[in-house]
Amino acid sequence: MKWTIFFLTTFSFLLFTACQNNKPSGDSGQEAVPLTPEEVTLYTQRGKEIAQGTFAAMSGELLSAMQRGGVAEASRYCNLAAYPLVDSLSKVYEADIRRTSLKIRNPKDQPTAAERAMLLSFQQLHEAGEPMKPVVQPQDANTVAFYAPIQIQPLCLQCHGKLGETLKEADYAVIKELYPADEAIGYSEGDLRGIWSIQFRKKL
Ligand code: HEC
Repeated sequence: MKWTIFFLTTFSFLLFTACQNNKPSGDSGQEAVPLTPEEVTLYTQRGKEIAQGTFAAMSGELLSAMQRGGVAEASRYCNLAAYPLVDSLSKVYEADIRRTSLKIRNPKDQPTAAERAMLLSFQQLHEAGEPMKPVVQPQDANTVAFYAPIQIQPLCLQCHGKLGETLKEADYAVIKELYPADEAIGYSEGDLRGIWSIQFRKKL
């Protein structure tokens, strides 16, 4: 079962990437070489560090905004600051850091075809009760893509939970004002909210 999912994922990933033109960071033309087991370990570790560092920075800012003025203030803060914060961390880590989901709040977080395939494969694992381990894949000769699941914690429910239950109507009104096309609600604790999608160069 696990292997079937693995092969399906790999296959659909290859299929989807084949249709994508937007290769990152000017390495076009160079073939992706399969990663050695050592590289997989190294780059998985690197990806985790970047994801955890980014999560810590975002949570810190989010919590202090929530303390200042609750969900409304924090949502306004995220609306203005989430992107600049991730951009500046991308520079610190020399990586392209993104978060994406099958149900997005910010239209800029729309998944690419490869990210969508990855989201679906994590979702399948989650539904089957299998562990969702981070994945690294060679992107081209010099770039590695790292994907890891993002799960819902109790704190997240105030802004991504069930409307009228964990997510207050008044708070959601503010969110809807900022993100009229929001789809990112209805979650419960432990649900798969989305993934980290991080790309960095192979030489560390
Ligand atoms: C104060 C409200 C608030 C809380 C609490 C919150 N979020 Fe969000 N979340 C937002 C807003 C607003 C955005 C859109 C940010 C932007 O414009 O970049 C967002 C975006 C995201 C995205 C990016 C994908 C998308 O839909 O655009 C992910 C993933 C995400 N949140 C996960 C979480 C997780 C996991 C938690 C808990 C650890 C959490 N959020 C807690 C308000 C919140």
